[in-house]
Amino acid sequence: MCGVFAISSSDIQNAGEKVIEGLKKLEYRGYDSWGVATSDTIIKQVGKISESTSHFPPDTKAIGHSRWATHGGVTKENSHPHKYKSVILVHNGIFENYLTEKERLLEKGEVFVSNTDSEVIAHLIQEQLDLSHNIKSAIQNVAQMIIGRFSIIVMVEGYNEIFVARRGSPLIIGRGKDQYAHTTFVASDIPAFLEYTNIVNYIDDDEMAIIHNDHVTFYDLDSGKEKEKRNIEVSWKEEIADKGEYNHFMIKEIFDQKQSLTAAINHTDQEIKNFISDLQSGNGVYMIACGTAHKVCIAAEYYFSYIAGRKINVVPASEMPAFERFINKKTILFAVSQSGETADILEVLEFGKKRGAKILSITNVESSSIARISDNHLSIHAGKEKAVASTKATTSQMALLLLLAYADNNRLNAGRLVLQDLASNVNDLLNPRYEKYIKSVAETLKDSNNIFIIGRNSLYPIALESAIKIMEVSYIHAQGFAAGEMKHGPIALIEKNSPCIVLGCDNETISNAIELKSRGAKIIGVASENHMIFDQWLKIPSAGTAISIASVLPIQILSYYLATLRGLDPDMPRNLAKSVTVK
Ligand code: M6R
Repeated sequence: MCGVFAISSSDIQNAGEKVIEGLKKLEYRGYDSWGVATSDTIIKQVGKISESTSHFPPDTKAIGHSRWATHGGVTKENSHPHKYKSVILVHNGIFENYLTEKERLLEKGEVFVSNTDSEVIAHLIQEQLDLSHNIKSAIQNVAQMIIGRFSIIVMVEGYNEIFVARRGSPLIIGRGKDQYAHTTFVASDIPAFLEYTNIVNYIDDDEMAIIHNDHVTFYDLDSGKEKEKRNIEVSWKEEIADKGEYNHFMIKEIFDQKQSLTAAINHTDQEIKNFISDLQSGNGVYMIACGTAHKVCIAAEYYFSYIAGRKINVVPASEMPAFERFINKKTILFAVSQSGETADILEVLEFGKKRGAKILSITNVESSSIARISDNHLSIHAGKEKAVASTKATTSQMALLLLLAYADNNRLNAGRLVLQDLASNVNDLLNPRYEKYIKSVAETLKDSNNIFIIGRNSLYPIALESAIKIMEVSYIHAQGFAAGEMKHGPIALIEKNSPCIVLGCDNETISNAIELKSRGAKIIGVASENHMIFDQWLKIPSAGTAISIASVLPIQILSYYLATLRGLDPDMPRNLAKSVTVK
């Protein structure tokens, strides 16, 4: 993952500090450490760049990086930029065969100061530069050596330009305007430079660019031939994510669901029908996603089965290689992603594109790589989701998918009614009293070592999602199960007072809850009605076919309070990043 950002300018005199400001907007991509280089100063620090108070001497160009550690621990040495002789580089991606090249360079006597794959790229560029004295062909040659995904930004002592190249990891050029007309920005995501410009060029895979102030020349990375690029005006406004009255983005975004569910289904009938007609045009649908979005897809598997009578194959994107042999011109690959940048998904889509499969997607970030590679794309319009734990994007994805399932059965209006009803009930439900009550339940659970969650039908994926939510922010081990599966093994873990969250109160689920209670479990019920078996009750509105969406809400609030009561920062949990752009 990692965020990269660079400026080349004759308008900006404090490029180093501006790069720090831009990187703060990319911190969701990784917050283990950060570093920025200007022509003659490099500052690196372990920790979050949002806490930085560093100053740089005046300069008109700078490159920087906010790191999510992959190769090499969280140390200052492993932070980017990496410098070797004249080459200074930041890298996002993974150089899979770096050890082979590193061993070769070590045998030549070269010395490495970090354990990263990225530092090896700096050495390789220097090696090629020494041979050809041509920085463009040096970068091209090194790109040939790299197996893996990368976006790199390079400065070289003695050169005024900044050099960038991409394969697999996102890289976008911002063309300065008005008072920044002689400035070019490069970043892994648009928000880094959106306060300066909304005119962009997307660098595609196997392309490079050479940048000096407002002069940008694009090249094919293999042939070295110059390429034309269109300037694209993005419609984004700079969305200042503001916590407002809330202590954390996570709880703010949970409460944003008072509006976001309505926004999620705010597509015209024609847009929905076109999407469904694409979905119906193939001979087999694979839904691919990761993490929470993958659990959303499992919920959608139930929606399409029950509502539209359609079988969807849901596969975590990282497991898709086992099924790639079934992808052909008739396959529909349907990706669901908040960020639209998840590397595991992109890799499947790129493969599918080559095989001629049709690509459909739902993302929150409209100009993301996944949206751009798709034949048909719908946005969930959830607004910026800043906390690492997905909350409002999750329910918005579910709402849109439920609507699509109705549309697939020619009952779009019925779907809209179900979801409008849900949105209005959620608006009533999310109030301070409800939040306070769930906080009191969290008080009773905060010292637990394990939490079990069970659900059946479309609540089974919600049990899986609830476990992710609790674990990622509170670090309490949590595990979700299909309600009927507990008795096939996991019930052995139940002892006196084991907390078990039971989603739903249908007869079969209640029977499973009774089996747990008989072994001493404490039952926390999530349902529209209370039940005598529940020790504690988290109320949800009765929501019909949208019950899975309603059931997510109390668990999100519970997870938030489990984290904060344990003294943790729910917005930036350890070891995670918002946008997972490495495999
Ligand atoms: O941006 P994406 O939706 O593709 O991200 C997928 C997962 O990385 C994401 O859902 C992750 O599991 C979240 N931290 C869950 O809250």
